[in-house]
Amino acid sequence: MYNTLQNDLDNLDYLLSLTKDKAAAYLNEINDRPVSVNNVQVTIPINLPENGIGLEGTLKAFYEQHQDKIVASSGPRYWGFVTGGTTPAAIAGDWLSAVFDQNPQGIKGSGDVSANIELQTINWLIQLFGLPSYFKGGFVTGATMSNFTCLAIARQWAGKQKGIDIAREGIKTEIRILTATPHSSAIKSLAMLGLGSSNIITVKTAEGNREAMDTADLEVKLQENKDYPVIVISSGGTVNTVDFDDMQAIADLQKQYTFYWHIDAAFGAFAVCSEKHSHLLSGWEFADSITVDCHKWLNVPYDGAIYLVHEKHAAFQLQTFQNSNAPYLGDPATDFSFLNFGPENSRRLRALPAWFALQAYGRSGFGWIVENNIALANQFAQLLEQNTIFKLVAPVRLNVVCFTIDSEEDRGRKLALILEKLKVSGKLFISPTSYKGVPCLRAAFVNWRTTEEDILIAINELTKAS
Ligand SMILES: Cc1ncc(COP(=O)(O)O)c(C=O)c1O
Repeated sequence: MYNTLQNDLDNLDYLLSLTKDKAAAYLNEINDRPVSVNNVQVTIPINLPENGIGLEGTLKAFYEQHQDKIVASSGPRYWGFVTGGTTPAAIAGDWLSAVFDQNPQGIKGSGDVSANIELQTINWLIQLFGLPSYFKGGFVTGATMSNFTCLAIARQWAGKQKGIDIAREGIKTEIRILTATPHSSAIKSLAMLGLGSSNIITVKTAEGNREAMDTADLEVKLQENKDYPVIVISSGGTVNTVDFDDMQAIADLQKQYTFYWHIDAAFGAFAVCSEKHSHLLSGWEFADSITVDCHKWLNVPYDGAIYLVHEKHAAFQLQTFQNSNAPYLGDPATDFSFLNFGPENSRRLRALPAWFALQAYGRSGFGWIVENNIALANQFAQLLEQNTIFKLVAPVRLNVVCFTIDSEEDRGRKLALILEKLKVSGKLFISPTSYKGVPCLRAAFVNWRTTEEDILIAINELTKAS
């Protein structure tokens, strides 16, 4: 065996313990670690080592070169984007998925249990969300790929309405896509699917300060487009103000109009874990497909998300994703394998961190995380409102606070300056955004570690920076 590999193998216990100690040290000090770093230089490529230095030397080299610039994105004050944390159980599951290095495919063909673990995890998530068992799903890397997967199935369904098998023949028919406030990743998916990112028909948003669809306008547009296959992409909820389309109203429209209904519930799905907020999703069980991210509110490490698709679309899913002319991969018609139901063939056992998290903390654990984050978002919003510098641009509907500075003059530049100062202090990370044309900041609460103390630190940092 190559010398250095042999040496690493001989010292495996010691080397893994060393790595574990470094990981534990990182996690134990994550509350104090900066959430951003300044002046990250683009590293000039250094020559590829001719002879490797083994794992111990490599750990040392990595720590010297990069570790101090790793930011606490899974820490309690990283409120940018919609960034979940990493619970201890999820980290253990993630580590073990590398250790086991399974490639979850079929139940029969691959002769291992990993596809079963994935199916069990999907089933647990379906139970967590209170969805019917006619939803079938699998894991992909993130909500973007989940939206892509679901919209690919929608595309196949749309072709079928006109007698076209799009997977085989290409897009030979016009497909109409109706949506109000889609996440950018749904639009990106349309681009990737050849449906065209600009080929959407925008449904009006509801009256008042809303991002949700005006369902009366949706009905008008369904009527106008009734001669075409229609895909409706709805939000549960939106990324800026977590507004939810009226799921029940859309479900009712299904009784009169034919359309494929996809819901992007990347993080909003977890509203069902809160007694006070579960009504926001009532009616979603009638959707054709649903996107949920696990690396958001399930607090598993990147990357992991699921697609949930009504089983009545299994044939469209298979037509879209099956591997043909590959006898070594089994017969798609008879042997269930994930590689015929999703965009990827080989995959890591991405379900394992979620399996560990759900086993370790259960329904009540995730109920607690969700309720805690919602309460903290509201507390943060209240303190912002008491502060004369800031104001909310929309009510806090769930776990995201979207706010701006009160003074309208030069708002965009002033907000950019605040973000610059926050970056220097490294104690709070939030994202810039624009809401109905107004430059804003947004803070997303999805991390199990966040506490009231973090809220006070954040208010203090924002006040200092403004
Ligand atoms: C509603 C929604 N959909 C999709 C995405 C994309 O998720 P990912 O980055 O995991 O692909 C996000 C990310 O914030 C989101 O909030």
